[in-house]
Amino acid sequence: MSTDPFVVVHGKRFKRLLSAEEIQGIVRQLAHQIVQRHRSEELVCVVILKGAFMFANDLIRAMNIPCEITFLRAQSYGAHMYSSGKVHIEFFTNHQRLQDRPVLIIEDIVDSGLTLQAIRDYLAQYRPKSIETVTLLLKPDTFQGTPPEYVGKAIAPLFVIGYGMDYNEGGRYLQDIYVLDSETAGTQSTSNNG
Ligand code: IMP
Ligand code: MG
Repeated sequence: MSTDPFVVVHGKRFKRLLSAEEIQGIVRQLAHQIVQRHRSEELVCVVILKGAFMFANDLIRAMNIPCEITFLRAQSYGAHMYSSGKVHIEFFTNHQRLQDRPVLIIEDIVDSGLTLQAIRDYLAQYRPKSIETVTLLLKPDTFQGTPPEYVGKAIAPLFVIGYGMDYNEGGRYLQDIYVLDSETAGTQSTSNNG
């Protein structure tokens, strides 16, 4: 962990919210919960790009059970300040592989829940046996919809970056998670680049 609790990305200051060590503790707990429930069946893990790539990497290794891994990209159309509700989906696998199989959606963060709902609806048309979601972070104050089965941590409705999550493609590489600093919080915007 870097000793400086602040990073600046595209001119905005962010403050550390969760250290890499804290994140790994949360990831281990989530992996344990998922394995308890799915030890005897092979999950199809659907990693939501781009934001969830780092979380999924750690989570799947911590789960350490046989599973299939595939990727889905979900992008909101329109304004970048919030989810527009219209979500464009690209699925990087043959959807026939989902039929009658348990699916685990792996998300980085759920805010309004619109993206997750669109992903669930999209996957449901291919008749999987079940669909569950694991998200590292959830903003309960802004969330509406079907609650994710596994939630790493609930956070305030502020904008965060790091550990895969971006601000206009900046900050994804960071090991820790940072929150938009309160001095600049009034100008928050989300990139919705996944
Ligand atoms: P939704 O509002 O739940 O539909 O969130 C849409 C997408 O916006 C999520 O899948 C994330 O990729 C992104 N997002 C939401 N909140 C944040 C955030 O605080 N930081 C970075 N990306 C976010
Ligand atoms: Mg995402």
